[in-house]
Amino acid sequence: METGAYLQKLIESNYLREPVIRSVIRALELPAGSRGLDVGCGYGAQVLWLAEAVGPAGHVTGLDLRREFLACAGGLAERAGLSDRTAFREGDMYNLPFDDDSFDWAWSMDCVGYHPGDPLPPLKELVRVVKPGGIVAIAAWSSERLLPGYPRLEARLGATASGIAPFAQGDDPESHFLRALGWFHKLGLVEPTARTIAGQAGAPLSDDLRRALIGLFQMRWEGVQSELSQEDWAAYQQLCCPESTDFVLDAPGYYAFFTYSVFWGKVPNCQRSELIR
Ligand SMILES: C[S@@+](CC[C@H](N)C(=O)[O-])C[C@H]1O[C@@H](n2cnc3c(N)ncnc32)[C@H](O)[C@@H]1O
Repeated sequence: METGAYLQKLIESNYLREPVIRSVIRALELPAGSRGLDVGCGYGAQVLWLAEAVGPAGHVTGLDLRREFLACAGGLAERAGLSDRTAFREGDMYNLPFDDDSFDWAWSMDCVGYHPGDPLPPLKELVRVVKPGGIVAIAAWSSERLLPGYPRLEARLGATASGIAPFAQGDDPESHFLRALGWFHKLGLVEPTARTIAGQAGAPLSDDLRRALIGLFQMRWEGVQSELSQEDWAAYQQLCCPESTDFVLDAPGYYAFFTYSVFWGKVPNCQRSELIR
């Protein structure tokens, strides 16, 4: 999906995601007045929620590869009156442009550990830039039930490459996001913890929720036609296209839920350089 369209979908889906993500942030109990980092901050919404969580004496830096996202994030912070408590920086999670021990905590959602490939190098970077005793937290979308009444079709959509994205087919099971507790143990993070929090939406849907769900259908399953039978693709279009007379969001009893999972642990006080070498 090209950047502008992707950004638009992220913004629209936020309406559905915001309450859940705020719950995830609350679970971390970030200290008031602390300074943190959001890696892969996208257009910056979570930087603002994290800044609110640490209060007026705290500070949050958002980092992303994409300059156009960061421009959007800066504008968002300004409009929210949070410019003085936030900063944005272009950079790569594999080589963070910060000194060791720069932050009290680091956070990454749908980015570190969620991208295809070995999750340990970027996770080690988070550990490197967080002070001993500070929290490293990674969170990601972990499941969904968006097509009530059509469990077989939804299972087949979920089994496509796009449905399991970004965990590419053939990847090592150890690198799947839901194995993150193992990564935390491997890196010697203290008190590794996992939690899963659900979000939901039910009829009657507001216009904002409808838009968010339509965006979600497109983000999850756009481009899967070649992996489905003709019948399944036709059924998907019938259910998930807003123009269809059988559009699933028009069902009077529509109900959907999804989950985010978060893993966190504390950076150990001793021998940290040994752990992340
Ligand atoms: C799925 S989006 C998640 C954005 C945001 N965290 C959220 O949950 O809404 C993933 C983000 O990670 C960024 N990203 C991807 N690879 C990256 C890298 N190597 N270093 C930094 N950011 C990266 C992308 O530009 C994108 O903004």
